[in-house]
Amino acid sequence: MSYFLPHIDAMSGYVPGEQPRGRTFVKLNTNENPYAPSHRVAEAMMPILLEGRLRLYPDPVGTRFCETAAKLHGVHPDQIMTGNGSDDILTILTRAFAGPGRPVASAQPGYILYETLAQIQNAPFRSVEYPVNWTLEPEHLRDLENPAMFYLANPNSPSGTAMAPDQVAKLAEALPCPLVVDEAYADFADTNCIELVKTHPNVIVSRTLSKGYALAGLRLGYCIASAEIIAGLNKVKDSYNCDMLSLAGGIAALEDQAWLRDTRARILATRERLATFVAELGYLVPPSQANFVWCEGGPPAEEVYKALRERDILVRLMRYPGREPALRITVGTDEQIDFLETALREIV
Ligand SMILES: Cc1ncc(COP(=O)(O)O)c(C=O)c1O
Repeated sequence: MSYFLPHIDAMSGYVPGEQPRGRTFVKLNTNENPYAPSHRVAEAMMPILLEGRLRLYPDPVGTRFCETAAKLHGVHPDQIMTGNGSDDILTILTRAFAGPGRPVASAQPGYILYETLAQIQNAPFRSVEYPVNWTLEPEHLRDLENPAMFYLANPNSPSGTAMAPDQVAKLAEALPCPLVVDEAYADFADTNCIELVKTHPNVIVSRTLSKGYALAGLRLGYCIASAEIIAGLNKVKDSYNCDMLSLAGGIAALEDQAWLRDTRARILATRERLATFVAELGYLVPPSQANFVWCEGGPPAEEVYKALRERDILVRLMRYPGREPALRITVGTDEQIDFLETALREIV
């Protein structure tokens, strides 16, 4: 006899990328930023700790953070909701829109969490396969039966590819439901879809401070949508889903755009080098707009993953139905990527 709801018993649960304990790896498996965040983040958090302010609850809607993010993106603060990482945003969205008879839809290969979130809601999960150019057209969505929401990771994980905003707009126009554009990696991309929120009422953009701002450990994300959608989502989120430290640190991070520009430039330069040498080794590498590259074909991914692991280098081995296993490699520092290159050339 189980205490759990049958659909919870039936699911296997999301398995995040390995966070190793007790052994030091060159860690290129979970798309963390290899550089330390802006100093301003710690400076903003320290007074809260030292002045005993943590005895109070935080602002439930993170008013100052929303104002800062709104200014940065050219929207109204009522169009922003904060989350405990963008995974929390995705959880809130799925809880708000999906359930039995209200399917979650997405594209494959994509971010595996979307299916898990659908399973938790006991909602059907429907997916469409990306075409070879990694760009979905409205006709690819034709066979989705009444989706209640569509998740589009853009840039996509694991491919790193990004669809242009005008292509995303066409999908939004073809869908009868919210289109969630998960822009976890948009800080590394050439374009983003925030402007679409103003022209397409069903577009919701999700953002995180985990990747571009190097704050994966802080847990802060947000979404941008119409004020009506944000008001509805605020009914679903936990009252105090973001703590006082992360909200203060998040404001400081967003305000330090010079830090973001410098760090981004370094990561993009290293991404170019990484993409070039893995392609030389025989992998098919779609053009990456994220802080990782996707390596399909080429030397057998499983063996290469194991050989790298023996050399204390951790990358992500991923399996998707109907495809050979492939490697997703995070852009590290130049030194880490040199180390990886030497190891890969020995192995291959
Ligand atoms: C596509 C995508 N969306 C969202 C997330 C969640 O990031 P976080 O919860 O750290 O904001 C990730 C994390 O790897 C991701 O790859």
